[in-house]
Amino acid sequence: MDAVYVMKYRDGKGSLDTPKKILKVNHAGEFGAINIYRSQLFIAKILMPDLVPLLDSFLQDEKRHMQIFWNEIQARNGVKCKSFWLCGIGGYFMGLVSALLGRKGIMACTWAVESVVVNHLNNQLHYLKGKHDEMAYSTVASVLEDEENHRDIGGGYGGRDNIWYGPLRLSISVFTEVVIRFGMR
Ligand SMILES: [Fe+2]
Ligand SMILES: [Fe+2]
Repeated sequence: MDAVYVMKYRDGKGSLDTPKKILKVNHAGEFGAINIYRSQLFIAKILMPDLVPLLDSFLQDEKRHMQIFWNEIQARNGVKCKSFWLCGIGGYFMGLVSALLGRKGIMACTWAVESVVVNHLNNQLHYLKGKHDEMAYSTVASVLEDEENHRDIGGGYGGRDNIWYGPLRLSISVFTEVVIRFGMR
């Protein structure tokens, strides 16, 4: 799925302001990503040992990202997202299924998830710039390059174009998109 409908970020009416929501959704998303790469590593260690260093480097990036968001959440008395555990379990499951489909499955998963993530990060940055929330802006901006890098590596290894993995990419894109929107409500 290449053309994902793009969600607009705007001010909301709830008790949490939109920057706080963005931070909690991203924090939960990083936990999802950590679990994707954890389950993929679990399978790769058995079946595809050559992929272990790459997947481990992704995992370390995601752990660092989660801490970055958590620091900023705490600095503004924010909260953990209600979908934190859903992200974790969903991520672990997606990672596991994709890894059982082999290395192209892993790369299709990476490409699909990170593409949705990068779209959202860009939209969040656009919103936060208009809001003049410099701390939230620089927090989100600090992970963008890593996520683009993850996406491009996944795409480069055949995760983007292999037709047999279309249904996997679509399911993963839709799940990721739904979880993000659910978290922003
Ligand atoms: Fe990340
Ligand atoms: Fe990532």
